[in-house]
Amino acid sequence: MESLNNYLFKYKGYVFAKGETTGEYIDSLQHFEIRDSDVFLVTYPKSGTIWTQNIINLICEDAADKTKFPNNLEKMPWLEYREGRPDYSLRPSPRLFATHLTPTLMPPGLRDKRGKVVYVLRNPKDNAVSYYHFSLVWAKLETPKHFEDFLQQYLAGNVGGSSWFDHVREWYSKRDQYSILFLSYEDMVMDLRTAVEKICKFLEKNLDDAAIAHIVEKATFKNMKKDPRANYEFIPGDRLLKPQFMRKGTVGDWKNTFTVAQNEMFDQIFKERMKNVPLHFIWDLD
Ligand code: A3P
Repeated sequence: MESLNNYLFKYKGYVFAKGETTGEYIDSLQHFEIRDSDVFLVTYPKSGTIWTQNIINLICEDAADKTKFPNNLEKMPWLEYREGRPDYSLRPSPRLFATHLTPTLMPPGLRDKRGKVVYVLRNPKDNAVSYYHFSLVWAKLETPKHFEDFLQQYLAGNVGGSSWFDHVREWYSKRDQYSILFLSYEDMVMDLRTAVEKICKFLEKNLDDAAIAHIVEKATFKNMKKDPRANYEFIPGDRLLKPQFMRKGTVGDWKNTFTVAQNEMFDQIFKERMKNVPLHFIWDLD
């Protein structure tokens, strides 16, 4: 375990927030038993995790959920942060988990297409801007002095979740080992209904039109921001300095933040680092 600063440590090539998990716990995931019915939502931080978490939770909702789980985090906890919850092996099926981990750190049983993975990625420029704003309000992260300072750390992978480029590349290049659905944040913003339908199909949930319309309605930025089960305002104030998990929810906000020079540098790095990733990016990098 290598300490990077007061807030972050590196373990097995991946950067974690201090105090949230341990190398020992991450190693224990190598013996985590996967069930065929498990669903894992995988993202690089700030790519639309709590949004997709809300959608999957609504798709998989059963009548008792509202009394069993006070909020979305309890229904779909983070794999890498057990944080005082009972052993995940005791949870009844179907189990839902969210995670920012890379394939190497994930339970090996997930390979060979056991369990399902929904992977959501986001234009890294918007992702970096969202992450910057999040670092200003999340008490467990260093408060960046300014965007340039954060951008340098982000590009170097010295942020929780490590490098966006490695995360996307690693999951994409290993996709054949998993039962995996790739979605982009931009797809979801552009056509939320189609995204919800794709997730339903992938999870083999046959919902009628009215149920799908209900989920789409509950998952819009405006409605979700008001939903105390979904908007993450339930996170204690010692962690979230301002209730700002749901900030803007738009595509292209980077244009309000990046300078011309930062944009050119980013494009150059993107071209180099993603050249062997034949993933079709729907977003416009310009
Ligand atoms: P912004 O900071 O650009 O607003 P994560 O959940 O992975 O931390 O991602 C957070 C980003 O997802 C934030 O982006 C947040 O506003 C956005 N988001 C959350 N819910 C959303 C929704 N219902 N519609 C659109 N964007 C949403």
